[in-house]
Amino acid sequence: MTDDAQSTPLESLSTASPAFPPTVEFAAQANAHAELYSWAAADRLGFWGEQARELLTWDSPFSEVLDWSGAPVARWFADGTLNACYNAVDRHVEAGNGDRVALLFEGEPGDTRRITYAELQQEVSRAANVLLDLGVRTGDRVAIYLPMIPEAVIAMLACARIGAVHSVVFGGFSAEALRSRIDDASAVLVITADGGYRRGSASALKPAVDEALGATSDALGPVDPPSGTTTTVRKVLVVRRTGQDVAWSEGRDVWWHEALAAASDQHTPVAVEAEHPLFILYTSGTTGKPKGIFHTTGGYLTQTAFTHLNVFDLKAETDVYWCTADVGWVTGHSYVVYGPLLNGATQLVYEGTPDTPHKGRWWELVARYGVTILYTAPTAIRTCMKWGEDIPAGHDLSSLRVLGSVGEPINPEAWTWYRRVIGGDRTPVVDTWWQTETGAIMISPLPGVTAAKPGSAQTPLPGIAAEVVDEEGHPVPDGASGYLVLTEPWPAMLRGIWGDEQRFRDTYWSRFADIYFAGDGARKDDDGDIWLLGRVDDVMNISGHRLSTAEIESALVSHPMVAEAAVVGASDETTGQAVVAFVILRAEWLDRVAEPAEPGTDPQPDVATTLRAHVAKEIGPIAKPRTILVVTELPKTRSGKIMRRLLRDVAEHRTVGDVTTLADSSVMDLIASGLDRPTST
Ligand code: WTA
Repeated sequence: MTDDAQSTPLESLSTASPAFPPTVEFAAQANAHAELYSWAAADRLGFWGEQARELLTWDSPFSEVLDWSGAPVARWFADGTLNACYNAVDRHVEAGNGDRVALLFEGEPGDTRRITYAELQQEVSRAANVLLDLGVRTGDRVAIYLPMIPEAVIAMLACARIGAVHSVVFGGFSAEALRSRIDDASAVLVITADGGYRRGSASALKPAVDEALGATSDALGPVDPPSGTTTTVRKVLVVRRTGQDVAWSEGRDVWWHEALAAASDQHTPVAVEAEHPLFILYTSGTTGKPKGIFHTTGGYLTQTAFTHLNVFDLKAETDVYWCTADVGWVTGHSYVVYGPLLNGATQLVYEGTPDTPHKGRWWELVARYGVTILYTAPTAIRTCMKWGEDIPAGHDLSSLRVLGSVGEPINPEAWTWYRRVIGGDRTPVVDTWWQTETGAIMISPLPGVTAAKPGSAQTPLPGIAAEVVDEEGHPVPDGASGYLVLTEPWPAMLRGIWGDEQRFRDTYWSRFADIYFAGDGARKDDDGDIWLLGRVDDVMNISGHRLSTAEIESALVSHPMVAEAAVVGASDETTGQAVVAFVILRAEWLDRVAEPAEPGTDPQPDVATTLRAHVAKEIGPIAKPRTILVVTELPKTRSGKIMRRLLRDVAEHRTVGDVTTLADSSVMDLIASGLDRPTST
């Protein structure tokens, strides 16, 4: 492990943890059987070719499964053509399932909608015609900045229907973050809403779009783009969700409901090549600039459909599936939009937070809709644990039959609580490891096959090849730790970083020659099962959301008060990790904040409050540091690299580890001695 590898309590776990084998009844009815592993092991490409033919409908068939002439360029099913939206919607209607409910929507205020596959087909057709009317063409990029409402799903599918590339930006990101993503992808259209409901009130979204596009948004009224700002965006399509007042740019802004009402509900999906880009999704890397991970069509759809069907044991006719992720993250792409709809599932989409208006909201929804499959993140489970068992106990959760976890390592205590309290000691729990880059689940139990071990993602799925290797890239023996790598290409793999081929090669394919380096540490237990140990790079995982230390550092130093900043992810009981920032103030500010304000002058700025607000503005509220510590020095190696491991020790209140590689070993004493100053939040 590197010097900076994050320590985790999982490392000290014994491997003799209890296993939960599937019950005989569950195994008997399960979609996936153990033979899938032997089939895929014997003929990996034949296996994926068969999945692609069986799970998808192709406009023209492919003749070759994989073209892998050299890492990292993979082409899956390359000469086949298909349309993602047709596969997710139209073919279910053509098969006679138009009356099946696709989306059961519940808004945070309690408003509900039921959208059948036939209705979804009409809506996506109308929306596709509107996109065409607004000048969007096959291959163009469309930015989507919406709350968790059905229009988010419809907008993504409408893009796919005409072969446009969607780039969804999480609604919690700031105008700045939206702008940089719009620019990087040269998006021609933004789809947004007046606002969405969060924590009991209407929260505006459109002002951030106006600001991102270079127009002032402080005053309601007509929006005049200031001179000197250029954007590739020509139109903004606005969904009316909350009814709040919005500023309006005549000629640029278009109401979604007006445009869709005027559009035809007839539209023929555009067949694209399997390798046509389907979407870009920005994720945090180890530098300040987010990476536009892009995925293509045929391989991505094959693996999302396969994994959704088998990992969750989906029975489309009877299950009610619920993934709590927002469409702004990859989980929302693969397991709210594409996976479930490709499989013709009925799913719940909920707009709001779990504790609005009360802490039992999720469990009330499970009971009301008869949810059978629930897919959520460990941070949510730990939050519910904190709130107490009596809250879920007040609701009938007996409909649940499979539970899933994603986004960060799930500690065995949370896993067993999830199974016992939410799953009634009855349901399998699948801990699914994957990434924005992998596109779909890679390592996970199969619920009817695997004897599940709490805390371990266990084995690569059929057709997936993963290993844990040492510094030199050699597989470690059972019982040892190392780096997680993927040793063979997989259908849903990223095809690149948008506009930055070199960064793609450098980030993923050069640490170990020609094999994919995931950035995660892992351990193989004595049975060879994989336990994820967290990131080994400067990426943090806060409530299952990826944030980069460098991105927050550059937001901090962009404030005039800050000379230098170092950010670490410190363990946090609920959110997995929390952002802790160490900042060195510029000399002139140091004096100002140290002295009490003169009577009659402006109050002194509060460093922590000011900087937290600044980070929220630059990136978004999710990136706000939990704690800000003002220091006079940062620990650096002789080559000038900040030793985050030592800062993590401070942030987690541990004895500081080995300081011998520091250029100046007295720095840690300085930091420790300054910490009693009341500068943290
Ligand atoms: C972490 C989310 C342990 C991991 C789908 C990975 C996990 C990063 C798990 C990707 C899991 C995700 N156990 N760690 N089951 N699932 N991770 O791109 O560090 O938002 O590299 O994709 O989350 O985060 P991303």
